[in-house]
Amino acid sequence: MRTLVTGAGGQVGLDLIAALMAQGHEVHASDVRVRPDDAPDARDLPWHMLDVCDPEAVRNLVARVRPDRIFHLAAILSARGESMPDVTYQVNQGGLYNVLEAARLEGITQVMFTSTIAVFGPGLPPSVADDVPLQPTTMYGVTKASGEMLGAYYSRRFGIDFRAVRYPGLISAAVPGGGTSDYALFMYVDGVRRGRYTAFCRPDTTIPLMYMPDGLRALLELSNAPRSALTRCVYNVGAFSPTAARIADAVTAAIPDVKIDFDPDPIRQAILDSWPDLLIDDAARRDWNWRPEFDLESMTNDLVPRLRAMLTDDNETEQAPHV
Ligand code: SER
Repeated sequence: MRTLVTGAGGQVGLDLIAALMAQGHEVHASDVRVRPDDAPDARDLPWHMLDVCDPEAVRNLVARVRPDRIFHLAAILSARGESMPDVTYQVNQGGLYNVLEAARLEGITQVMFTSTIAVFGPGLPPSVADDVPLQPTTMYGVTKASGEMLGAYYSRRFGIDFRAVRYPGLISAAVPGGGTSDYALFMYVDGVRRGRYTAFCRPDTTIPLMYMPDGLRALLELSNAPRSALTRCVYNVGAFSPTAARIADAVTAAIPDVKIDFDPDPIRQAILDSWPDLLIDDAARRDWNWRPEFDLESMTNDLVPRLRAMLTDDNETEQAPHV
């Protein structure tokens, strides 16, 4: 199956592309940035420079590649989004609109979309099901919530097979960029490369988190599920919800002499406090058999050696992003 991935250079992109290629799919990558050094080379992975804000460019690329499905990942995350809400609106909202329009005009059947815990807002119970009022507090969350609705509209009105997961904060062997959930990953990344990390949240902060292999499996399993089994377009997917203090304990147990402390940043803490503790994902479990495999401990055991291998060459490359 030929698959076009937008935002291929972002947090999910290269891992998703590797998973798609391992399943034997032909993949075309697109991103506003040039091919990263760790991407497969052009023989295996065509890399198209694309600004999703440019409707004509999106349509031209879709017409040229003629994918069977599009994984639309291009987006600006929540913390970085708050420093430039205007660009975030254009990229996240305009980008999805352009992709859906190109899919409609070029007759592409399936559009996969990554939504988020950031669609939720304050005032909800700690555990949230799929159908609760959405009152996002960030531009990222606003655009993802309206993106879910736009996709559902294209599904009803034009028959586009729009499917989305609402991701928890994703943790992977990568240096993150611009997310509010990044405190969790930076405990691991800076724990490995610097032996210390000061988290920008309180120790009792609790949000849903997920290890990337589960995140990829969720997206691929939803994409591959028979349409007749699906009862909705957008699904919560959950994994585990440790406090920040528990993550720090897991990192401290896995990396000797690591020092993690906490210095909450009021803006990012307020965003974290507006998100739920736990996602109820009964519909995903029922409709397409969703089950997470990793919990905090098994993720830690898998992730720390990967980060050690990844960060040996690249010791002082990137600081925790200043947003
Ligand atoms: N990881 C995202 C963020 O922090 C949440 O979906 O913005």
